[in-house]
Formats: sequence, structure tokens, C-alpha cells
Amino acid sequence: MEIKKIAVLGAGQMGNGIAHVCAQAGYEVKMRDIDQKFIDNGLATIKKNLDRGVKKERMTQEEADTVLRRVQGVLDLKEAVKDADLVIEAIPEIVKLKLETWKEVDEAAPEHAILASNTSSISITQMAAVTKRPEKFIGMHFFNPVPVMGLVEIIKGQSTDDATVKVIEEVSHKVGKKTVLVNEAPGFAVNRLLVPALNEAVFAIQEGVATVEDMDLAIKLGLNWPMGPLTLLDFVGLDTALYISDYFVDEFKDSKYRAPALLRKMVRAGWLGRKSGKGFYDYSGEKPVPNKF
Ligand SMILES: NC(=O)c1ccc[n+]([C@@H]2O[C@H](COP(=O)([O-])OP(=O)(O)OC[C@H]3O[C@@H](n4cnc5c(N)ncnc54)[C@H](O)[C@@H]3O)[C@@H](O)[C@H]2O)c1
Repeated sequence: MEIKKIAVLGAGQMGNGIAHVCAQAGYEVKMRDIDQKFIDNGLATIKKNLDRGVKKERMTQEEADTVLRRVQGVLDLKEAVKDADLVIEAIPEIVKLKLETWKEVDEAAPEHAILASNTSSISITQMAAVTKRPEKFIGMHFFNPVPVMGLVEIIKGQSTDDATVKVIEEVSHKVGKKTVLVNEAPGFAVNRLLVPALNEAVFAIQEGVATVEDMDLAIKLGLNWPMGPLTLLDFVGLDTALYISDYFVDEFKDSKYRAPALLRKMVRAGWLGRKSGKGFYDYSGEKPVPNKF
């Protein structure tokens, strides 16, 4: 089966990145969000990232314009998926929202369409089960920022068939990513390790072990991470990290995955990291400034 048209649900951090790499690989993309302002923001981010590519002479202005023209912003869900060969979902990490959305998508998308979720943690089998095509349902886990990061974790649900895996491997390679194939388990391969590590950094801040700046520097230089865990959390989005931790506790029934109270408090205050302008760092000035806790 050849994929030509892709619908991306969500124009946030992940959605616009996924739409970008798909359009750059030559796919026709419809990017759907629930409010025009989110679509506009998503398109503006794609344009900004393409402009950077032109400046760095990785592509010509003409190529960048062609890529941008391949992404159409859409508000209506049915309109977004009605002629899609592949639907990639990147909406918030909330189980109820994802299940409701997949039911609607399943009704409106063509029978042959493959349904892929970019979830960070939620069971592929659980989402597949609300559709009439569980064999065509799969996890396609990109990493943030999508145009830069080189991996797609492909997750096979209980009913996902091999033909679907093959198509998704091909699409992932075409958008320039390497793939790993994992069987479904909460957090798959990467987040099962990463999320407890990030939470532990927040516990350390909560307990006054170190400042935000020192914790980040310690892990960056001591473990050779490209960035510290608190900087990374601000990139991921604190709300997303909290949803994942809560989901892990439910699924694993193991308190080692619990979220620190500080993380929950920050999310309740609307401190979501870069996307809200404030998290472990403050982003209102030219350079991020670490907050004190
Ligand atoms: N942030 C990361 O580092 C990261 C990495 C890999 C996977 N993910 C996963 O990707 C998904 C999206 O995360 P994000 O960081 O892009 O979040 P985000 O908050 O930046 O974006 C989510 C977008 O979805 C939109 N939305 C909400 N309901 C919708 C609906 N019904 N239809 C279409 N759009 C809808 C929101 O308006 C928002 O623009 C989550 O499942 C998350 O776990 C995130």
C-alpha cells in the first residue's frame, strides 16, 4: 500500500513537527487542531524551522515554499481525515480524549487508512479496540523536536498486523528516521527509562539537593546528556510528563513511577515549560533564567 496523503491531528509541539517532516518527504499533509490560533501557531513554527534550513543552506527558498504549501491547516476533523491514507495523532496525552477522537476518526477515515498514535505512554491496544480496524492501528512515537531527532519508536499493539508495521517502517524511513520495533508495554522502550529519571531530578529539586541550574549542569556534564533533565522537562511539557507518570502508576501499579508533588503543583499553576513561557526556567527574556524552588 502506498501512502500519499497524511492527516496529522494536533498542531502543537509534536503535531507541527510531524507535519513538517512528512511534507518535506513529499507527502500531502492536512494538520488539524481545534482552534485556528493553534493551527496558525503550528504553521508559523514550521515556517520558522524551514527558514532556518534555508539560512543554513540545507534547502533553497523555493524548496521551503513547496514544503510549506504541502501542509494545509484544517479545523474540521472529518475534512482532515476523509481522504487520508494515514492518520497520525498528536493530541494531548489524555486517555479519554484520545479514545473519543479515535472513535470519530474511525468513522470518517477511508477503510484502507492506517491509524497511528504518537502517544508517549498510552496502550496502543486500548486505543485500537475502540476502532473497527485494530489490525491497522499502531504506535508511531516521534521525539521532540521532530525535525531534529532521528528516531521513531514503532509500537505493535496486540492486533497490529505485519503489513501495517511494514508500511509505517517505510514512512518513518522516508521522513528520515531510524526505527525500532517494540511490543506494547507502558512507556514502550524509551519513556520507561526516561520518565522515572526526569521525575527523580524533580524530587531532587523538591528536596533541596541542588539548584535547577546545578542539577542540569551535573547531569549534562556528568552523564554527557545533550541537555539537563529540567531543561528537557521544559521542552517535553510538564503537563505531558505528569500525564505519563500518572498513567504509568495506573498501568504498572508500582509507586516508583509516581510524579513528584512539585511537578503536579507547577502544572496546576500553568507552569508547563517552554510552551507556556515558564517551567523550571523562565522564558520571558532573551535567555532562559532558572527559577528558584
Ligand atoms: N512533548 C514531547 O516531547 C512529546 C514527545 C513524544 C510524544 N509526545 C506525545 O505527543 C502528543 C502531543 O504532545 P505535544 O507535546 O505536541 O502537546 P501540545 O500541548 O504541544 O499539543 C497538543 C495539541 O493538540 C491540540 N488538540 C487538543 N485536542 C485536539 C483534538 N481533539 N484534535 C486535534 N487537536 C487537538 C491542542 O490544541 C494542542 O495544539 C501527546 O500524546 C504526547 O504524549 C510528546
